[in-house]
Amino acid sequence: MTVSIKKVEEIEKMRIAGRLAVDVLDMITPYVQVGVTTNKLDQLCHDYIVNRQDAIPSPLNYKGFPKSICTSINHQVCHGIPGNKVLKKGDILNIDITVKKNGYHGDTSRMFFIDTPSIRAKRLVEVAYQCLWIGIRQVKPGRYLSEVGKAIQQYAMSHKCSVVRDYCGHGIGSEFHEEPQVLHYYTPDAKDVLLQSGMTFTIEPMINLGKPEVKLLPDQWTVVTKDHTLSAQWEHTILVTDDGVDILTLSPGEHQIDTTG
Ligand code: MF3
Ligand code: CO
Ligand code: CO
Repeated sequence: MTVSIKKVEEIEKMRIAGRLAVDVLDMITPYVQVGVTTNKLDQLCHDYIVNRQDAIPSPLNYKGFPKSICTSINHQVCHGIPGNKVLKKGDILNIDITVKKNGYHGDTSRMFFIDTPSIRAKRLVEVAYQCLWIGIRQVKPGRYLSEVGKAIQQYAMSHKCSVVRDYCGHGIGSEFHEEPQVLHYYTPDAKDVLLQSGMTFTIEPMINLGKPEVKLLPDQWTVVTKDHTLSAQWEHTILVTDDGVDILTLSPGEHQIDTTG
């Protein structure tokens, strides 16, 4: 397994792609409301990426994916296809944006509450957010990638949540999905990766209120929890630096290293 080390020029392009992906999430936020369809959110993001950013929505036609963004509601874990479904009060929604600009990808996702969430939905979304940040905090050159999954799993389990095992984070660059696989749990069976400055990958834990098992819907994309319990996910694209980590999809409201967890 080879994990590419990005050159300075590549990192600059990835910074741009990361910032564009964040800008799409910020643009769409005021539209994420009761009564809107996920198709409408997809159309707004598509038009913004193509017309305003002069960029490419990476999901569109990726392995046959039919839309420009992923929208995963409630018990949907990831890769939800935007459609005619109308968002209703109490829903939780993940919007996952990947943008390609100058040949490089930036990938980030956030959770949204549709009006007021239930207490347990809010708790799940907060646990998933902390899982992302605890994972990010493990990243430093000279440390092992397995520390990321180990820390995430420990935090999730101590909060009575489970970690999805069938999908993982990934290296990213000129390809949407590159090596390595970034597991959000620990297994001695995975080949470990010694982190080095210049590696770029995503951390994107999918955290369930119930059991970790998932199934694929007949549309061949949408992943849902087998027990139909709620699932939440947050994602950042990160760069390993000489002394730690740089988050390429940080939003202005977020701190580079969040210490609240
Ligand atoms: N953005 C997703 C990820 O974080 C991948 C979506 S693939 C798609 O890796 F085809 F469903 F868009
Ligand atoms: Co990703
Ligand atoms: Co993504």
